[in-house]
Amino acid sequence: MAEKHIKGNTDGLKAALIRATEEYIDNCFGPGEFVPGEIVDVQTAFTAETGREIAFVLDRRNYVREISVGDAVHVDAALTGGKDRGLSGTRLLHTHPNGTMTASEQDLETLTRSRLDAMIVLGTAEDGTLTGASAYVIDPDDPDKTLRAGSFSRQQLDRFDFVWSRVREIDNILREREAQSEVDAGGRERAVLAGTVPEKANIIGGDDSILDELTELAETAGAIEVDRVTQRRDRPDVKYYLGSGAVDRIKSSVRTNRADLVIFDDELSPSQIRNLEDALDVRVIDRTALILDIFAARARSAEGKLQVELAQQKYRLPRLTGRGTELSRLGGGIGTRGPGETKLETDRRHINRKIHMLEARLREMSERREVLRKERRKKNLPVIAVVGYTNAGKSTLVNALCDSDVFVKDELFATLDTSVRRLKGTTNQDYLLVDTVGFIRKLPHDLIESFKATLEETVYADLLLHVVDASAPDCDGCIDAVENILDEIGAGGRPRYLVLNKCDKLGPGDEVYISDRVRHTYGKVMRVSAEKGDGLEALAEQIQRFFTGSAKRFELLIPYSQGAAMAELRRIAAIDSEEYVEQGIKVSGTMPSEMLSPFLDFKVKTGD
Ligand code: GTP
Repeated sequence: MAEKHIKGNTDGLKAALIRATEEYIDNCFGPGEFVPGEIVDVQTAFTAETGREIAFVLDRRNYVREISVGDAVHVDAALTGGKDRGLSGTRLLHTHPNGTMTASEQDLETLTRSRLDAMIVLGTAEDGTLTGASAYVIDPDDPDKTLRAGSFSRQQLDRFDFVWSRVREIDNILREREAQSEVDAGGRERAVLAGTVPEKANIIGGDDSILDELTELAETAGAIEVDRVTQRRDRPDVKYYLGSGAVDRIKSSVRTNRADLVIFDDELSPSQIRNLEDALDVRVIDRTALILDIFAARARSAEGKLQVELAQQKYRLPRLTGRGTELSRLGGGIGTRGPGETKLETDRRHINRKIHMLEARLREMSERREVLRKERRKKNLPVIAVVGYTNAGKSTLVNALCDSDVFVKDELFATLDTSVRRLKGTTNQDYLLVDTVGFIRKLPHDLIESFKATLEETVYADLLLHVVDASAPDCDGCIDAVENILDEIGAGGRPRYLVLNKCDKLGPGDEVYISDRVRHTYGKVMRVSAEKGDGLEALAEQIQRFFTGSAKRFELLIPYSQGAAMAELRRIAAIDSEEYVEQGIKVSGTMPSEMLSPFLDFKVKTGD
């Protein structure tokens, strides 16, 4: 039941007039009439007496649900909200004191925004006579636009009754279309994607294509893209990240597409998120929250779950609202899910405590892994880590090389936990092949931090296979992103091969662009198709050669001050003897020639 009291600007109005008008609330007038004459007379008389606009909200049974006075027509969100589909079932009749019966832009905006059945404008002359009435409805072909349904005089108000069937028709069209789009969306959240394009960038495929990857990420997280908005600028706006023109476009898109959230392609500051949520009136998340959400849903091992949760809690801490007890618009959905379906903490003190607890448990796990790694080393199994951009085909390659069945799926971040397989070499030597988490551009820093422990496998690997999807449009950019992360986790100096995968998808004349810089970094560039098996034998042979064929004998003198170099040597080389002399440790043994260069300063003598 509506509050029995008039909204808007009633200052200075006679109490008796207010009381008399309020009596209309919750009563029914002229059932079946689309524009009830009795109400029109009350409204025009009120406007003539006060010089102010007056608006009545009527439901379909013609009960008055709300009355407001003043310039801005008011419709209580409670009367129109909560409707998932179609029209609101309420219409608005209001007067224009200047006698015009043409709707203003603001009137039409209220019509579309509140999904009203109709907006009826009553042109009112100074003496209170009705100059004419017009009814507007939503255009069913484009619910952001409106149509004029008809205009009639005071004597012809009953001719508006045909609008009833028009309203029902529009309601049905919208409901059906929206039900269909919900089926298409499969109950998924509807997302508008937004991002910036550098001012001078030349984007093949148009500016919007810069958001292609975000679409895939959003889909992986269970959302469906309903629109994209991009803006050319080099520096983000401090307050809203994008400029006001783009924010307006997003706002209109959210309304037209009935979006549940807006996803930005960059990390936003806590205050940008708050400002955007206020301006757009919808949930806003950034790329970081999206990636964290995907990781949260994917983590399988206990350690993976702890790592993701740690990264999520660290991301959340500065994003608590001022009072520190509540997250802004925390209401479930993408960006608010925790690993293992637990609801993430929303209290600052608890979060801090949780972060310490998670860090302690992860440290324990890391120590345990170090013990395992040492045991493995004792067995002298060389370790090859397979790294690469998400969806490059790492798991497929590991499976193909090892004849195993690591989880392969055509989605981003299918592999979150490092898995280890034994690869049979052609000679007696076996290797351990480590499949790692996929990398991605702008990987959240907290996530890299918390995954460092798992990625230690990469840091300590004897050889890295960097798998690249050769058919991806920005293959060189993906290589760069992976390189940066390898540097960040401390694996930048490891010997590595570049494996161009998915070569079966390339046409005969297709060239894979790889910059000279990348070519220089890599010892070898191999072309394969992990799925079809092409090039795998050559790759296996190359690996074999790396570890055995090219083994060099060495004899080094490592000064006692170079403890790290000695430790590294013990890790990568097959050591035959160690002798403690006055100047340091005299070591001899064999190791792959590719790995010898950092030790050349300590060389006593090398030979085959
Ligand atoms: P993340 O777990 O996200 O890091 O993925 P990943 O790099 O482990 O990729 P995965 O092996 O899961 O493969 C991703 C998709 O690419 C799957 O649909 C594979 O079938 C497909 N794929 C992998 N290798 C090839 C290939 O050589 N050719 C073609 N055409 N598709 C491939």
